[in-house]
Amino acid sequence: MSTPLYAPIDLQRLPRHVAIIMDGNGRWAQQHKLKIALGHRAGTEALRDIIRNSSDLGIGALTLYAFSTENWTRSLAEVEALMQLILDFFHSEIDELHEKNVRITILGDKDGLPEKQRDALMEAERRTLANTGLRLNIAINYGSRAELARAARLLAQDVQNGLLQPGEITEERLSQRLYTAGLPDVDLLIRTSGEMRLSNFLLWQCSYAEFVFPTVLWPDFDLKQYHACIAEFQSRKRRFGRRPTDDE
Ligand code: IPE
Ligand code: IPE
Ligand code: MG
Repeated sequence: MSTPLYAPIDLQRLPRHVAIIMDGNGRWAQQHKLKIALGHRAGTEALRDIIRNSSDLGIGALTLYAFSTENWTRSLAEVEALMQLILDFFHSEIDELHEKNVRITILGDKDGLPEKQRDALMEAERRTLANTGLRLNIAINYGSRAELARAARLLAQDVQNGLLQPGEITEERLSQRLYTAGLPDVDLLIRTSGEMRLSNFLLWQCSYAEFVFPTVLWPDFDLKQYHACIAEFQSRKRRFGRRPTDDE
């Protein structure tokens, strides 16, 4: 492996699924006396490096929170800037991601997005569907509660159609109706900017995730920071409710 490591990481024990709440673009823009849109643009630069490096390291799945169902409450100018960045990102990155064998999945309600964005996202999913490398999930117009309510509706539909008995609704079947169907649970959740909350992100999937909260603002999050988060994850003792044995 030619990828340099900036922290002592054991490549045999990588998290299978990393999720990142990319927070702090607004404060970064403020600090640099720039317009908020430029903070978000700087954020997409950080994003590029993290995606590439995750693929190079051999991380199985990377899920990024790009736009929440609550982010529509921001000013029209900010929402428009974010929508434009989403479009620019897919146009400029899709070829390289496809070449790297990355499979893109969008988490969230695409129907609630403007048509141009919806088309670009669907095209990215379609084009990379057969790829077998990094599973890159981008949460756009995503809210975990909306996702769970949707899963409940899909299960209810199956019951109504006689495909399922209420007693057959299991954790496994509910998981299969989430946007993350088929992916392992989140092992490592990173939120930048020092905020320590989930903000409606992957509530179900993070049941046993290890949380790391670097204080750095998202546009300043680099590979050094990323590898430090992975090393921190590897130093944690995960118990999943078990009584640890003496050698643990
Ligand atoms: C995160 O940065 C990006 C999105 C929510 C889209 P913020 O814009 O939330 O940055 P802060 O929290 O205001 O610094
Ligand atoms: C969460 O960040 C959403 C994204 C990073 C896309 P927010 O900045 O919107 O979350 P709150 O409002 O601080 O909880
Ligand atoms: Mg924020």
